[in-house]
Amino acid sequence: MAPRLSKRAFGWLDRRFGLGAVLDRLLNDPVPERGGWWYTFGAALFVLFLLQALTGLFLLFYYEPTIERARESVLYIQQEALLGWAVRGFHYWNMVLLVALVGIHLLRTFVSAAYKAPRELTWVLGVLLLLLMVATAYTGVILRWDQAAYFDLVVGLRITELTPVVGPWLAELWRGGEVINPHSLLRTFAFHIFLFPLTLLAVALVHIGLVVLLGQYGSWINYEPDPSGAPLTEEQAASRRKLEEELLDPKSRKVNLPARTTFFWPFHVFKEGVVTFGFFLLDLLLVLWFAAPIEGPVDPATTEYAPASIWFFLFFDQALLLFAGTWLVPAANVVPLLMVLTLALWPWLDSGSEVRPSGRLASLAFMLALIGVIFTFSFMAASRIYNFEFINHP
Ligand code: HEM
Repeated sequence: MAPRLSKRAFGWLDRRFGLGAVLDRLLNDPVPERGGWWYTFGAALFVLFLLQALTGLFLLFYYEPTIERARESVLYIQQEALLGWAVRGFHYWNMVLLVALVGIHLLRTFVSAAYKAPRELTWVLGVLLLLLMVATAYTGVILRWDQAAYFDLVVGLRITELTPVVGPWLAELWRGGEVINPHSLLRTFAFHIFLFPLTLLAVALVHIGLVVLLGQYGSWINYEPDPSGAPLTEEQAASRRKLEEELLDPKSRKVNLPARTTFFWPFHVFKEGVVTFGFFLLDLLLVLWFAAPIEGPVDPATTEYAPASIWFFLFFDQALLLFAGTWLVPAANVVPLLMVLTLALWPWLDSGSEVRPSGRLASLAFMLALIGVIFTFSFMAASRIYNFEFINHP
């Protein structure tokens, strides 16, 4: 009875908007066979982002975006609401994993040279997704409205204000007045639950749409002769034929075809499922082990509180400290803007046909230098804030 019903429902939908063709395009998509585990982070990101939206929705059942009640309502969720500690824990730790995963996915596509033509736009949208993810996470932390949140907002507004030309106007738009006031929290709330995540969702769908449209690139190993030299299995040959059909005219669109492909369903979906579930388990362990943080009530006048930036901005915190004074404006926004622009334009800066890492040493050196600076500055900031020895710091 049930299978017949679902078959009829499927037929009904298929006749109305070609569901079968849509599923065939998505599920029977040919994907590169070698190195498949590395190509699973994008899917994990998408699923964990949906989990983030779901836990965020449950938090909205109790959260109150007013400066009088925000922290109290978070404490209520943490201590009183049914499973509130778990929902809040997931929302917090999943955010940590999402930011880390965006970095991992960026590194994997960078090392693979997946940004090369015709996938430049996929990469540029990826850089936008990175910014949106960080902006969503940062605005979320402010909603707690504890000491850390308040000082995070102060620093964010100050950096915005220092932006040449539009800075003061942007900062006032965000603050909702000359000084921090109830509108500042309400506007940060609007950015966190509406503007950033919805833009992120829309951009992510176009990003993934491009991956389907252009065919997944994978990595350089898929374009070298298979070391085993084994003939293609029936499955591989069928997926390869389908890829050629789907890309219509691969030559005119400069799409390289991988030597061996397999079908997205069930082979790649299985790998994506395992990796996504692994991250979910990690989330669960973190939720069970560590409570999401919350500090004391906001006291702007305090002289005893030493503000510490959120972990993914520690490197930025250190840069601001090192270059305080004459170099503050470049350190606060000109240099970060140039870094993001360089990253976004990398497909045009490294546009040659070479895809192997050994032939792209300049690209790897650039990425290593970027990671080196971020990690060194982050450790310097952490050693200053949490008082452990790293290297001499101011
Ligand atoms: C919310 C954030 C993001 C989501 C949900 C997302 C999702 C995905 C998915 C599902 C794929 C296909 C599977 C895979 O290769 O893992 C993919 C591929 C890709 N992503 Fe992302 N991504 C995100 C962020 C980024 C970032 C930050 C970058 C780089 C700046 C990036 C660059 C790419 C590129 C170049 C590909 C093509 C890979 C290929 O064809 O092999 N993505 N992304």
